[in-house]
Amino acid sequence: MCGIIGYIGDKKASEVLINGLSHLEYRGYDSSGVALSYKGEVEIYKAQGKLINLIEILKTKEDICSKSHLGIGHIRWATHGLPTTLNAHPHTCNCKSLTLVHNGIIENYQELKEELKSKGCTFVSQTDTEVAAHLIAQEYGKTKDLLCAMQNAVKKIKGAFAFCAIHKNEPDKIVVAKRNAPLVIGLGDGENFIASDIPAIIEYTKKAIYLSDYQVGVVTKNDVKIYDKDDKLIQNKVENLPFEAIAISKMGYKHFMLKEINEQSDVVRNVLSSKLVSSSENVVLNEFKLSKEKIKKITRVQIIACGTSLHAGLVGKYIIEQLAKIPVDVEASSEYIYRDTIADENTLVIGISQSGETADTITAIKQAKEKGSHIVIITNRADSTMARLADSLLPVNAGIEVSVAATKSYMAQLMSLYLLSFYLSEQKEIKEYSSIIKNLKQELIELPNKIELITQNPQNIQKIAKKYSSYKDFIFIARGINYPSALEGALKLKEISYINATGYCAGELKHGPIAMLDENMPVLAVLNTGIVYDKVLSNCEEARARQAKLIGVTNHIAEKDKGLFDDLIIIPQISDMASPALNIVVLQMLAYYIAEYLGKDVDQPRNLAKSVTVE
Ligand code: AGP
Repeated sequence: MCGIIGYIGDKKASEVLINGLSHLEYRGYDSSGVALSYKGEVEIYKAQGKLINLIEILKTKEDICSKSHLGIGHIRWATHGLPTTLNAHPHTCNCKSLTLVHNGIIENYQELKEELKSKGCTFVSQTDTEVAAHLIAQEYGKTKDLLCAMQNAVKKIKGAFAFCAIHKNEPDKIVVAKRNAPLVIGLGDGENFIASDIPAIIEYTKKAIYLSDYQVGVVTKNDVKIYDKDDKLIQNKVENLPFEAIAISKMGYKHFMLKEINEQSDVVRNVLSSKLVSSSENVVLNEFKLSKEKIKKITRVQIIACGTSLHAGLVGKYIIEQLAKIPVDVEASSEYIYRDTIADENTLVIGISQSGETADTITAIKQAKEKGSHIVIITNRADSTMARLADSLLPVNAGIEVSVAATKSYMAQLMSLYLLSFYLSEQKEIKEYSSIIKNLKQELIELPNKIELITQNPQNIQKIAKKYSSYKDFIFIARGINYPSALEGALKLKEISYINATGYCAGELKHGPIAMLDENMPVLAVLNTGIVYDKVLSNCEEARARQAKLIGVTNHIAEKDKGLFDDLIIIPQISDMASPALNIVVLQMLAYYIAEYLGKDVDQPRNLAKSVTVE
């Protein structure tokens, strides 16, 4: 998953491309590159590492930067070949007349490469993309037309791609193509933009065309032409883009992650607004398209997701099973696929994804769709591929999330899952839970203020973060509905600080992980008053007996038990069932401040990318 960008118009192409790429860094940041065109000549500049390295190079290329008004650019998350300058995009053919940037994976690149080699092509990089550059150039040799060359080439390519190509002989256009990788064309006045995602172009235009799979397009200064898979000219809908440029600003925060953690109280208000009006009224969920009769026939729920979204799904399991009395399986998308999963028309399949572009989840959703299951998509991106696969789309509207570590999108996903479980229970008319649901609704309504009590008082968490930032390992434990909090807390810590952190259900500690415990292994326990409170407390005793340092995150601790812990973080009063939404804020902040003390690149941790569009 990489980011691609293209520009044609009167502005300095280099400035638009670099600005756009800076908003696509969440998609990868191993290397970057641009191709700038001027009167048929194309100059390519690439740099290994962060975008800043490319910016430094371009500072020395004032001449072409001031003249070029057409260009394409790329930011890479390496799949084929090391993250070197050589493997950075754009790539070209041997005569350097065609230049290409690519997001995706060309699955048959080996066989295409052999064929192209036998025709005299020589390769300089280890990438799959270079194969496409040669292939399109070969087709250009036959057709002398960039559009036709692209149309012919994509028919020979297996896999996923979003392409932007330019050719020296046709210096007034950018040709694009898409299959299973996002691509949007921003429409301006006398200028047009191409990007993998909206943030890259939102400050220039609010109107755009989304390319669908198998479409190819020709973008000039004043026109956009789109062709379908049969090469027939078609008209795509012009859409209004959903974001404001302000949404991608740090707004004075040191990192996007901290800003996004602090936005969570508003995210909760946002998700609940108009759906949860009061604790005594039924949830309004018009987006859920199954009739009451069909809801009553649901025999099982399958939740499929990856990473943080998977952890939200695990919380969903607890609340849906408890309130709607439907058995729920939660599975990593990458495990759901490549086996004969049991799902039918009475299975409700819920795909959860911040980006809506995660390849594993898209494949899993398509698989379930073929079996006739009703597909619910919970996503932060109503404009995403997954959203378009949904039978019922529950957009979570957390606002654009820039930091690679997901925070506010997790909160929004949790809220959607609470709403969905209330809705299912209410539609099934399960009266015995109505008072539990009523209380829970009231708790969610009060949740934003409680989140703010945590985010606005970070001092204790900061102090604890500093104290533990030198440890190399961490264990997170919890039970019941907070077990996913332990998993998510550990994930947050490891992905931004590179500390080896593992989440366990507390009861499992004694079945193996306890062997790891000594004074060098801090244990963080999430314990909320409720059915498992005493059990987790006992697990803490076990850890303490092995001299592990103990941090407790809790809404209540008796005076007599305080001495058990080295450090305590007390959260506002909350029921066990609603508590994952508060506990996670503490764990996100702890991870954030530890990484910050360690001087890590919080928003762009190594080896990661926000949108994982490869399986
Ligand atoms: C979250 O902090 C991670 N960076 C990652 O686990 C992420 O949640 C995962 O890749 C799934 O992404 P999605 O929600 O966009 O599908």
